[in-house]
Amino acid sequence: MENGLTEHSKLSVRSDSPLAASNSHASGEESEHLHSMLRLARKLEHAHDYKAVIDAIHHEISLVLGYNTTWAYLNTDNPDIWHLLSAHESVGISDTIPTLTIKGDRFLEEVATSDYPVIVEDARTDPRTNKDIVAALGNRSVINMPMKFSDKRIGTIGTGTFGDEGVKLLNTPQLEYLESMSSHAAVAIDRVRQYQERIQAEKEKRLAQEKIAHVQRLESLGVMAGSIAHDFHNMLSAILGNAELAESEVETGSPAVEYLHNISNVSHRAADMCHQLLAYAGRHPIDQTSINISALVHETLSFLQVSIGKNIVIDKQLIDPLPAFLGDATQIQQIILNLITNANEAIGELSGKISVSTGLKQIDRTSLEQLTIADYASHGEHIFFEISDTGCGMGETTLKSLFDPFYTTKLTGRGLGMSAVLGILKTHQGALDVKSIKGQGTTFKVFFPVATGIAE
Ligand SMILES: Nc1ncnc2c1ncn2[C@@H]1O[C@H](COP(=O)(O)OP(=O)(O)OP(=O)(O)O)[C@@H](O)[C@H]1O
Ligand SMILES: [Mg+2]
Repeated sequence: MENGLTEHSKLSVRSDSPLAASNSHASGEESEHLHSMLRLARKLEHAHDYKAVIDAIHHEISLVLGYNTTWAYLNTDNPDIWHLLSAHESVGISDTIPTLTIKGDRFLEEVATSDYPVIVEDARTDPRTNKDIVAALGNRSVINMPMKFSDKRIGTIGTGTFGDEGVKLLNTPQLEYLESMSSHAAVAIDRVRQYQERIQAEKEKRLAQEKIAHVQRLESLGVMAGSIAHDFHNMLSAILGNAELAESEVETGSPAVEYLHNISNVSHRAADMCHQLLAYAGRHPIDQTSINISALVHETLSFLQVSIGKNIVIDKQLIDPLPAFLGDATQIQQIILNLITNANEAIGELSGKISVSTGLKQIDRTSLEQLTIADYASHGEHIFFEISDTGCGMGETTLKSLFDPFYTTKLTGRGLGMSAVLGILKTHQGALDVKSIKGQGTTFKVFFPVATGIAE
């Protein structure tokens, strides 16, 4: 096999190297190498990730050449940086050099540009090697081969000896074999890359479809719930009005007074449900005023005080003054109310803490996208209020359905509080972020766009 590889060896192996050692066992070696290639090809067919590719290559290299360490680095968009793809090793490559900076490193610069294997017989004495890395890893012999796919350099694959393994050299057929391994690796790595990109694209498409379906379902539920709630609310007003009229007509002391009173009470509760549904559907007319969020939170907390358990400490950190925002104070109060009520219920009978704070935050496009509910808001300056509790927290299932109307995990819950919050965010261009850990607690952060001027 007198081809270009002997040329390579001449190019890359230093003249005093015994690497171009005798080829006397070439035919036996060639057959061994061929078998190794066939085994590798079979294994690579089933490799679906980079590690499996490197593991398969390492297995053959260690079997055929007796090297115990193999690594592969891939080029990145930055021509000066390589990322470790995978290393089969016990010497600490993954921890010590997860990335390589090429510029300024004589040895790596040669590896990055050479079309042939770059060979170091003894890293301790070779003037090209980075002696810090050699000291950290204990390198002895190092062989790095370029990995190319369709004439494009995609990275490098390397092998070598460390510490007590001493210097270990290769003859020409062995180098030739390594070069073929590198071509196999390049093809397999590109196939894995394409495979993983396809899987990722399919995953993103599925998630996007799921999100659209979810939004559509919520929209149609909103339309339906909104129109039912609207008609129902009108009927309830008639029931309430008649019950009150009847109450004023019956004689005091009559047993009917109590019945009529019950009718009024239940009707009020039903009307409250209708309000939440109308809020969810965004069908509440908006009575817009300039809102001072800290004052509104303070006021809401003081009238909620009676319904919050004695076992719960309230911690307030309200910043005043804050810029104002435009909104319907009753509806924003409804959000605070619903969130505090949920926090209170999440803590239950145990002792716990509800922390309430307000503040100002600049939200850029990227951080907006990371919020749980961001569809109705745009980037810019926002006031926020944050309500966190040390309650039961939520698991993944609950977090997924949190804003669905009628989704509740409580015996007496109606599952309308968070849906109403969602509807109000929609009509106020608000955003929301929720973080929750099961068994530890939950934090809701609600954002509204700042209006110019200071809150009244
Ligand atoms: N702070 C919280 N901690 C733990 N779970 C919460 C919290 N807030 C909401 N949840 C979960 O989300 C579900 C839906 O909340 P939502 O307020 O919409 O309905 P609900 O509280 O069950 O009933 P209601 O209509 O009376 O508010 C709750 O049942 C609960 O499981
Ligand atoms: Mg609730």
